[in-house]
Amino acid sequence: MKLAFAEVTGWGKCVPPAIMTNHDLATFMETSDEWIRTRTGIEERRVSAVGTSAMATVAARNALAAADLDPAEIDLIIVGTCTPDEIIPNVASKVQQDLGAKNAAAFDLNAACSSFFYAMHFATSSIRIGMHKKVLIIGAERLTRILDWTKRESAVLFGDGAGAMVLEATDKEVGLLSSKVSCDADARDVLSLDFGMSFDRYQFDGVMPFNFEGQEIFKRAVKGMSAAVEGVFKETGLAVDDIDVLIPHQANKRLIDFLAKMCKVPEEKTMINIQKYGNTSSATLPIAYCEALETGMVKPGDSIISAVFGGGLTCGAGLIVWGDRVTPLQNNQMELEQGADQSALDLILPLFEGSKKAWEARGK
Ligand code: ACO
Repeated sequence: MKLAFAEVTGWGKCVPPAIMTNHDLATFMETSDEWIRTRTGIEERRVSAVGTSAMATVAARNALAAADLDPAEIDLIIVGTCTPDEIIPNVASKVQQDLGAKNAAAFDLNAACSSFFYAMHFATSSIRIGMHKKVLIIGAERLTRILDWTKRESAVLFGDGAGAMVLEATDKEVGLLSSKVSCDADARDVLSLDFGMSFDRYQFDGVMPFNFEGQEIFKRAVKGMSAAVEGVFKETGLAVDDIDVLIPHQANKRLIDFLAKMCKVPEEKTMINIQKYGNTSSATLPIAYCEALETGMVKPGDSIISAVFGGGLTCGAGLIVWGDRVTPLQNNQMELEQGADQSALDLILPLFEGSKKAWEARGK
């Protein structure tokens, strides 16, 4: 059997129009722009007025435009998300329906913030062994709906958005050439949201406990991502001098700086956009790729290292060798039409008030 490679031929993003700055947050919670910027690098984030699937569909349309593909040519859609609109049916089937991608199998994948990279790993494998030819992978999240807005230690970190890529079979040796994915399940509880089938819905009082142990996550993320990156170096024989660009998960600027140091990549070759969007979980990676391409950071044939981590604790890293084309074939800058008339505070303050009341009713 001849193994193909999986080239990234399309890329697109969707960032909702409503912007919540650190200063906006400081109007209703005890925090400051200075604290958030110096600890995390975040200056603002986006808040979506629409569900995850609507953002995912816009990002997917942009990726298909960049690849100049008809949706009917796609044979698999994978949506990485931990914030689906519904439990059943999945987000991927809504994207399939909205795009008219009627020949695609469609499923969601949840590895928290690592979901998009996990999707890339498995989509690439399925193309390499010949099971699929043209795959659409998406990372999309509406995290602002599941955050507890009374908890400043986690609420300031996250935002909404979506990004997508089209992967196509090719004989050229490009795309994800080496990847490592893992899960440190002993740390399952350091990042968790208890809202699912274990929940007693008849007793639900509106409190969704979001457990977030920031320092423990930080330590485990450093360990997991370092091991994954080292695994990729070992497998490929790549040396730090061979890396052209670093495009990491955007969870914290200090974690990105750590990775850049480890890979010896200078700041101008490290994709950083956390200041604009915060942590959009599975969407950070594809949005970062889009912006690295839009700004000319990625050149034809570049060797790119990506590293991710997320709840689980899941981790991953990979070497992506870019193909010849760094520009979209068609305009891939379509935007969400809905939600431009609502401010971020209009969208978030009712959630903040609701959470405050629910905690008060519990006597806390
Ligand atoms: N504004 C102001 N003060 C705050 C805020 C806030 N938003 N949040 C916490 N504080 C206070 C705390 O109450 C504490 O006060 P105290 O010293 O009086 O008790 C103080 O700031 C320090 O709190 P720490 O939690 O120790 O702050 P730390 O320096 O660890 O930074 C952070 C927190 C940024 C979350 C850090 O732990 C971190 O980077 N963690 C990595 C994990 C991460 O970034 N996760 C992102 C998402 S997870 C993912 O992507 C999978």
